Amino acid sequence: MKFFYKTLPVFWMLLKGVLPGPWSAWMPENIPAFEGTCVVIPCRFNYPEELRPSVVHGIWYFNSPYPKNYPPVVYKSRTNIVHESYLGRTRLLGDLNTRNCTLQITRLSPELTGKYYFRGDLGGYNQYTYSEHCNLEIINKPTIVTPPEVVEGSEVELRCVVPDNCPEMKPIISWTNHEGLSQYSVYGQVEEEGSTWSLISMLKFLPSRENNHQELGCKVNYVNTTFEFDAVSILDVKYIPRIVQANSSAEVIQGSPVVLVCAVDSNPLALISWLREDDLLYEEVGGSLTLRLENVTYLQDGIYTCVAENIYGKENHTLALTVMYAPWKPIVNVSVIAVEGDPVTILCSTQSNPEPIITIFKEKKVMKTVVYSSQLALEFSSVTHEDDGEYWCIAENQFGQSGSAFNLTIEFAPLILPESKCTAARDTVQCICAAKSNPEAVIVFKLPTRNVTVNETDREFVYSQRTGYTITSILTLRGEVDSQLYIVCSARNLYGTKDQQLQFHHSNSLMWAKVGPVGAVVAFAILIAVVCYVSQTRKKKHVTSESGDRKRRSRGCCIFHICNVTVITAALVYYGRHPGSDKRLLNKREDLGIDYANIDFTKLSTKDSYTLTEELAEYAEIRVK
Ligand SMILES: *[C@@H]1O[C@H](CO)[C@@H](O)[C@H](O)[C@H]1NC(C)=O
Ligand SMILES: *[C@@H]1O[C@H](CO)[C@@H](O)[C@H](O)[C@H]1NC(C)=O
Ligand SMILES: *[C@@H]1O[C@H](CO)[C@@H](O)[C@H](O)[C@H]1NC(C)=O
Ligand SMILES: *[C@@H]1O[C@H](CO)[C@@H](O)[C@H](O)[C@H]1NC(C)=O
Ligand SMILES: *[C@@H]1O[C@H](CO)[C@@H](O)[C@H](O)[C@H]1NC(C)=O
Ligand SMILES: *[C@@H]1O[C@H](CO)[C@@H](O)[C@H](O)[C@H]1NC(C)=O
Ligand SMILES: *[C@@H]1O[C@H](CO)[C@@H](O)[C@H](O)[C@H]1NC(C)=O
Ligand SMILES: *[C@@H]1O[C@H](CO)[C@@H](O)[C@H](O)[C@H]1NC(C)=O
Ligand SMILES: *[C@@H]1O[C@H](CO)[C@@H](O)[C@H](O)[C@H]1NC(C)=O
Repeated sequence: MKFFYKTLPVFWMLLKGVLPGPWSAWMPENIPAFEGTCVVIPCRFNYPEELRPSVVHGIWYFNSPYPKNYPPVVYKSRTNIVHESYLGRTRLLGDLNTRNCTLQITRLSPELTGKYYFRGDLGGYNQYTYSEHCNLEIINKPTIVTPPEVVEGSEVELRCVVPDNCPEMKPIISWTNHEGLSQYSVYGQVEEEGSTWSLISMLKFLPSRENNHQELGCKVNYVNTTFEFDAVSILDVKYIPRIVQANSSAEVIQGSPVVLVCAVDSNPLALISWLREDDLLYEEVGGSLTLRLENVTYLQDGIYTCVAENIYGKENHTLALTVMYAPWKPIVNVSVIAVEGDPVTILCSTQSNPEPIITIFKEKKVMKTVVYSSQLALEFSSVTHEDDGEYWCIAENQFGQSGSAFNLTIEFAPLILPESKCTAARDTVQCICAAKSNPEAVIVFKLPTRNVTVNETDREFVYSQRTGYTITSILTLRGEVDSQLYIVCSARNLYGTKDQQLQFHHSNSLMWAKVGPVGAVVAFAILIAVVCYVSQTRKKKHVTSESGDRKRRSRGCCIFHICNVTVITAALVYYGRHPGSDKRLLNKREDLGIDYANIDFTKLSTKDSYTLTEELAEYAEIRVK
């Protein structure tokens, strides 16, 4: 074939404007047709004018342009001998003499799919297979063309394209399963492209998310035939996420596990996130996202938001998670120290949900209470020492209670308590002075008439004892009380000094004063004489039998001593001797006229005349005027 071309001058190309050269043909590159129907392949060809053939013949080959390959003959104008596949199926519609090689093939079947070549036969060696050829495609489905993106709410158009190249059979297109589409309409249209024709049906509608995955069908029928072809298109409707299930606001108890679910309908899949306030907790691409809080604490109380987002938009859902918990241990301005008279405010605060009832107790007595508040202030405009003590602040709600103790410590100047007094008994004066104070007071006894001050450092006269804020001092004096004697108790701490004259309280034992000093000595001497007599007679009687009884023997010994020395001692005392007198308060001054002797016979060898009351053993006192 090429050799023909080489022999021909190029100027032939100018003759026919339609075809590019004298040995060229035109036919559609591709032509589709439904199985069972027919197809008309439009075809034109050209050859050099100067050949002026008397008769023009032509051959259509299937799949190969070269006769030496013996390709199946589709049509042959010279002999009518065709390949068996094409027997009775092909007809040349065009007139070869007018260079029209249009071919019709009927009763199409799938094996006829392939390339169709036209060979011009102008007689002799002037035979040429045109390189231009037509691809016949036997199909059994219409083509549904959908736009690249179907988005909810924007109008979309689907096209069902059906080849229409068989003049004998006209296709009828219909849509199926489109009835539920919103605002749909169908238009028909015919399109020509390179001499091949298509019938197109257009379906316009407004897609919604419910149409996603919907199967739309396009069906092709031919009048008076049973042929039917259909195709299905599954809609892929894109839409912004919609939260279809999510928890509403909830109250949970601290420590319990919490599950928050957010289920989203979205195409394409959304990025779902859970946020607490503005903090991102968890995010994932998917259809739902579950947020698990194993052990919820008050810190997790707050506003939770589920946000679902894809490229088309986003949606969110908000809920409040309220974590309920028992009150925390109340916080009180630790142990408060105040000075009497000060204004004091004690604040007890806690935290709980719901708000607690707070009560402040002092020794089981309710001082103040507040309902549904996180704090309670106990106010004293002026504290007194009676406000001192241990308090409890208790906070309670339905989930539990908690309490804290605190001490309110009041510092105050000394108070002298009513039990402070002096008691004169026989020849002893005992004064009690009790004072309450904080901090602890120092008690001093003053004897103004004697120009004497004594305190507990002088252990011989003063004994002190402390219990809580109370100090009790006992002053013990021996000797006779004169009418001018008065005793002042003075209690002092850094907040002040309190002086109080102690009242005398007389016991019934001032017999000795009534009898008088001389009478007393006489009576005492008589008593001694009697004792000596009785003792000595008893001793003679039992001396052998009681020799083993050490106690009795020593007692007897003392009594011996008494008998021997009493008179001498009594005489000495009478004449004004007073051993150890510098240790005594009441006879320091001679003008008092009181002489005092205290003889402890158990300690005679030491000659110690002073004995503490606790140590009182057997003793005798001699008082002389
Ligand atoms: C070729 O022949 C067909 C069938 O007769 C006709 O429809 C078509 O118009 C012709 N083509 C040209 C270019 O004349
Ligand atoms: C279809 O068949 C009916 C009756 O056989 C006939 O009247 C009608 O013309 C035919 N239609 C076509 C398009 O061939
Ligand atoms: C949230 O919803 C899920 C599913 O309905 C449920 O199992 C869960 O208990 C809910 N969470 C709360 C805190 O109510
Ligand atoms: C919950 O958390 C608290 C504090 O972190 C812890 O004391 C408690 O044991 C936890 N409970 C559970 C069930 O994990
Ligand atoms: C949730 O949506 C509302 C309005 O739709 C918006 O104002 C708000 O900012 C969104 N919240 C979040 C966390 O995205
Ligand atoms: C206790 O705290 C409250 C508040 O902080 C304060 O007003 C009050 O003065 C405090 N009381 C004492 C005694 O510190
Ligand atoms: C309050 O004082 C008492 C007595 O001094 C003491 O036993 C108690 O522990 C104190 N309480 C507090 C909370 O300090
Ligand atoms: C007490 O002693 C002071 C000085 O030590 C002295 O001035 C005063 O006169 C004395 N008073 C009596 C009553 O002795
Ligand atoms: C107690 O008395 C002693 C001596 O009598 C004296 O030194 C001391 O200062 C006194 N103490 C007080 C607190 O008065």
